[in-house]
Amino acid sequence: MLFDAAEIARRVDALAGEIARDIRGDLLAVVILKGSFVFAADLIRALERAGLSPQVDFITLASYGAGSESAGRVSLVRDLSEDVRGRTVLIVDDIVDTGRTLKFAREELLGRGAAAVRTCLLLDKRAKRNVAIEPDYVGFAIEDRFVVGYGLDLAHRYRGLPYIGVVVPTTP
Ligand code: IMP
Ligand code: MG
Repeated sequence: MLFDAAEIARRVDALAGEIARDIRGDLLAVVILKGSFVFAADLIRALERAGLSPQVDFITLASYGAGSESAGRVSLVRDLSEDVRGRTVLIVDDIVDTGRTLKFAREELLGRGAAAVRTCLLLDKRAKRNVAIEPDYVGFAIEDRFVVGYGLDLAHRYRGLPYIGVVVPTTP
């Protein structure tokens, strides 16, 4: 285990506080599925407690196959239903690794005419970054290890774990 449920909850509350101090008024949270659905559910409720009431929309992006290595390109699997033109948008995602997914999402939203795009990532694997992008809000910076739980999966499993953990290979 890397972060237990209580530690995550405290950090998510603090993040929401930071965001609510910086952003006022109209906000559209764009949640990048699938990995960030658990984080987003907690963050959005924490934002509400912090006095910010964002609209919420979802986009599904894929960059990984069934394993744990990046496929190297990002594809749009399911699109938003809202028009982002002229809006302040907060991208909510679970983890930034190479940075390709975040860069793709940011450029896509700006390309569609969003007025401003901020990015909130629960986890930041800085060592693996290979495109130039820095998230605005980060929950935890972590080492280059494959993590699961709290929405994050390994081959579509472990998303429901209440904590974030590292998968330890079993020895035969
Ligand atoms: P990037 O495009 O390489 O930055 O990868 C971002 C996406 O890869 C994330 O949104 C996750 O879906 C997935 N990912 C990267 N690292 C991990 C990990 O350690 N566990 C689970 N998913 C990961
Ligand atoms: Mg993801």
